Amino acid sequence: MWQTIPFRTPKVVFGMDSARQTGAEAKGLGAQKALLVTGPSVKSSGALDAIEKSLQEAGIAFEAHILTRTTSEPTTDMAEETGRIIQEKKADLVIGVGGGSVLDVAKMAAAMTANPGKVREYFGPGKVKNKGTKAVLIPTTAGTGSEVTQHAIFLDLENNVKKAVASQAIMADVAIIDPMLTVSSPRSVTAASGFDAWLHAAEPFISKNANPITDALALEAVQRITRNLGTAWSDPKDLDARYNMSLGCLTSGFVLANAGTSLVHAMAYPIGGEFHTPHGISLSVLLLACFKAVVASKGERLKQLAVAMGENVEGLSVREASEVALEAMYNLLRSVKLPVCLSEIGITDRSKVKGWAQDAWNERRLLARAPVELTVEEIADIYTDAFDPYL
Ligand SMILES: [Fe+2]
Repeated sequence: MWQTIPFRTPKVVFGMDSARQTGAEAKGLGAQKALLVTGPSVKSSGALDAIEKSLQEAGIAFEAHILTRTTSEPTTDMAEETGRIIQEKKADLVIGVGGGSVLDVAKMAAAMTANPGKVREYFGPGKVKNKGTKAVLIPTTAGTGSEVTQHAIFLDLENNVKKAVASQAIMADVAIIDPMLTVSSPRSVTAASGFDAWLHAAEPFISKNANPITDALALEAVQRITRNLGTAWSDPKDLDARYNMSLGCLTSGFVLANAGTSLVHAMAYPIGGEFHTPHGISLSVLLLACFKAVVASKGERLKQLAVAMGENVEGLSVREASEVALEAMYNLLRSVKLPVCLSEIGITDRSKVKGWAQDAWNERRLLARAPVELTVEEIADIYTDAFDPYL
């Protein structure tokens, strides 16, 4: 079958100490004044030092805007306020430095300078029409992939739900990925964001949107992240592990941007919205129940994931190999102390599954790519399955 495959990516600069190239990249974009958008922990970790120095050397003026938040996800008003600051300061470049939340705020704020109204008006696919202020995104975690995607996720406090803006116009102009910036990531962040990155490869791999390019990148990312997550978590200063995690995360970011997530992310939205659970945790507690639900239709793909995770499936049937893949996923989560079911994070009220299932079903953008067509009742069954541990 012949396919037409669009492939989206910003300009990417990857490598140890690549943050030192920020000034040169900003100059290349014609910038004269940059607004550095970052979080309080990034500022205090010293991660900004190399970036600020390179901007000074390139003769680019800059000011820092430190985001503070009280919720686990960024809110829509943070992006709106930051958009106003970009205009007040007359900045012609936004440089986002931080985890996925900071990067999402930075890229949406940059877009708000050329698109009127409120962020919530832009939820859904293709709603942001105009390219805003130019943006350079520099992640300090490995990571959400936000630096290379056209998505930004926000908590809409009015409705207490997480929603995504998904528009080509908010993609960064340049993504600079410097593994050195991830060395100070706390263990819990390394685990949760590293697993999120793993899933950004594995979930599209079993989705309807997969294509030969994203498949190759997905298997590479799954292999690299599975091999290195445990070391990066247990020995945060292991630079080889950090390098490989950042590379694996970048690779899975390309998969995320070009094939997209589906079932697990759709089902995680109601959990994250209601309980304000960190993104990676709301995914890890649903992973096994979701993948178990697609064994019948995607067994062959699960077998390939098992191989990418380093498992020996020689001589096994597709169903047996799928079981091996599920066990490998369980072991990956356990190896970095991530929770594997809802009850483990104190969510035990089973009367809620119907409401969550309806909310997840409404995430049509994501569920349209799910490996199998699911009814609200079937999604509710998966939530029910997710209350208890898989093994
Ligand atoms: Fe994610």
